[in-house]
Amino acid sequence: MGNPVYFENNRTETLQRKFGILGKSAGVQSMLETIEQVAPTDISVLIAGESGSGKELVASAIHKYSRRAHKPFVIVNCGAIPAGIIESELFGHKKGAFTGAQNDRKGYFQSADGGTIFLDEIGETPLETQVKLLRVLEQGEFLPVGSSTSMRVDVRIVAASNRNLEKEVDVGSFRKDLYYRLKAITITVPSLRNRREDIPILANKFASDCAIRNQIIFKGFSDGALKVMSQHRWPGNIRELKNFIESMVILEKGGVIRTEVIYRYLNAESSPTELNPLLPVKLDRNVDQAERELILQQLFMLRREIAEMKAVIDQGLTPRPKVENNDEEYNPDLEVLPDDHSHEILGDEVPTILNPHLLGTLTAAQVEKELIMRTLERFNFNKRKTAQALQMAERTLYRKIKEYEIVKEN
Ligand SMILES: Nc1ncnc2c1ncn2[C@@H]1O[C@H](COP(=O)(O)OP(=O)(O)O)[C@@H](O)[C@H]1O
Ligand SMILES: [Mg+2]
Repeated sequence: MGNPVYFENNRTETLQRKFGILGKSAGVQSMLETIEQVAPTDISVLIAGESGSGKELVASAIHKYSRRAHKPFVIVNCGAIPAGIIESELFGHKKGAFTGAQNDRKGYFQSADGGTIFLDEIGETPLETQVKLLRVLEQGEFLPVGSSTSMRVDVRIVAASNRNLEKEVDVGSFRKDLYYRLKAITITVPSLRNRREDIPILANKFASDCAIRNQIIFKGFSDGALKVMSQHRWPGNIRELKNFIESMVILEKGGVIRTEVIYRYLNAESSPTELNPLLPVKLDRNVDQAERELILQQLFMLRREIAEMKAVIDQGLTPRPKVENNDEEYNPDLEVLPDDHSHEILGDEVPTILNPHLLGTLTAAQVEKELIMRTLERFNFNKRKTAQALQMAERTLYRKIKEYEIVKEN
């Protein structure tokens, strides 16, 4: 009968290599099996998982191992396209369909004809557009904007969402029929912190690939170093781990990477003001990511200044009740500042950036509003850049701007 354990490991290894998706955890094994089964078919697939967990990698593996492999693989980030133009982007438009439509224009579905379309962040599409997606799924046809004849395409749909679509259905922001049509085959990509046993494999692979690519020496991680990385939370999942490893391998070129080094870089990640001086802007990050780091750094400094002010006030003043003395004019600067708990609630990433009188009385929403306003100002009210810097979908940003009634001041 052979050795079933050996057989299983061997099979997982084969699939890992085939799809370029690493990991031996149960979650990854079952993911690899599903990919192996569904890739060669035409069935639509829904991929669920947190940002950075590997959804796009799964989608491209599905395309690559389908009969469509030599045809286009079109990636559409539904969250990044403003609601007003999403239909013309997806389905194209006729000349004259709206002001500015000077020519017929092909949509993504037409560009993907014969191949696969990857609808990333599908949970961000407006409800009206969802009806049209359902029609493409069911009948393979759609109407370009401004056209009265529908168009047929042969496109396989792979969709992904980092939101829980079932919940979105419950609150009415995602169509039930579309959800049921999509969810038949769902691949759930586990978050990295739920498959910690995969971290050493991934870390070693990213490090050695990076060393080869950059022609530098990588001698390995100490056991302790691997353990520390395995215990870290990695809120940005594999993407975060990969960026982390690559910058560390490049900057530490040479010896074995030990525990202290990992701690040093993990600290640099969580407190941008203490960035390693060797590490002005992490090497392989794009401009927006670099800008994001700068923003966080600035906000972090503000937070520290506030903490210093608070310390001065704490030392110099004795507490007194707020409304006791009515003849004296109320002076907020003399008020005792409550403890700053926002850090516990919001974590390292969202800095407390406001007026010191308000410290500790802020709600998460107020901090978020302030962060959005400042980021908008920083990017000259460019919503796309702001959304990217804040790592939120553009549509979410629009919604929040409306919700918080943020207006551009001149
Ligand atoms: N299991 C894996 N093995 C190797 N690399 C991975 C794995 N999962 C993700 N990656 C890499 O991590 C990065 C983020 O993955 P991506 O597919 O873009 O995530 P998502 O689409 O969920 O945000 C990419 O560079 C990808 O190649
Ligand atoms: Mg992605």
